[in-house]
Amino acid sequence: MAWNPDVYNQFKDERSAPFFDLLQLVELKKGLSVIDLGCGTGELTSKLTDYLEDSKVLGIDSSAEMLDKAEHFKTNRLTFLQRGIEDQLNINDTFDLVISNAALQWCSNHKELFSRIISILNKGGQLAVQVPSNHYYIVHQLLRDVAGKDPYKKALNGWIRDHNVLTTEEYARVLFENKGTEIQVFEKVYPHILEDAEAIFTWISATTMLPYMEKLPDDLKENFKNDYKKELQTIFPETPVFYPFKRTFISAKF
Ligand SMILES: C[S@@+](CC[C@H](N)C(=O)[O-])C[C@H]1O[C@@H](n2cnc3c(N)ncnc32)[C@H](O)[C@@H]1O
Repeated sequence: MAWNPDVYNQFKDERSAPFFDLLQLVELKKGLSVIDLGCGTGELTSKLTDYLEDSKVLGIDSSAEMLDKAEHFKTNRLTFLQRGIEDQLNINDTFDLVISNAALQWCSNHKELFSRIISILNKGGQLAVQVPSNHYYIVHQLLRDVAGKDPYKKALNGWIRDHNVLTTEEYARVLFENKGTEIQVFEKVYPHILEDAEAIFTWISATTMLPYMEKLPDDLKENFKNDYKKELQTIFPETPVFYPFKRTFISAKF
């Protein structure tokens, strides 16, 4: 998918706040081997590296556009690789800490995925993950509604992006069934205040809308964006707009 780091970074403060909450769950130890799955621009991976003294951190991501920005954060303790999360899991490298911020929602079948991720942890290792869990919020529903109507429905062959994220109870169970200890799973709502409906559109266009842009034919892309924008403007005519954003935190030791 064609990620655009500049559009993604337009809400840098809002997007990085959950990462710092995730860091609070990480047990501070020296000399860890660490992997950040879906590291994006690497900026937050760099903060993680500063936080974990003497540790070696590898950030992987499938997007060349995002990793271009990561070059800037490389050090002798922090490296980056262009690699898919699923491909990484097929390699037998193991780590003391596996962390992932706002990336695993792009991977399917979380029950199996989490088992596989846990299997690359060294004994005593920690998993710390944050995924957005606001897929039932109206902003996402409107996107699915637009995609579900013609001419987009026909062009997409009825495809609509389904969510991969499990409930908090299901994540807790997956951690337990994989012999996790010190299990922590909880949701947090981030109360974002955005300028207007256009700002919500910009937010979504950097992430959730990407698969639709990838699948739609060029001659429908602009109309799709305009139709979605109109729906947002109808629901959110006010300014500023309150955008409560729910995220799930998942952590355990193994
Ligand atoms: C929302 S961004 C988050 C980036 C970073 N973790 C952060 O918090 O700033 C999601 C990232 O996950 C990456 N991603 C999505 N699916 C992936 C996959 N299957 N393998 C590797 N990276 C993936 C995207 O390329 C993107 O950079």
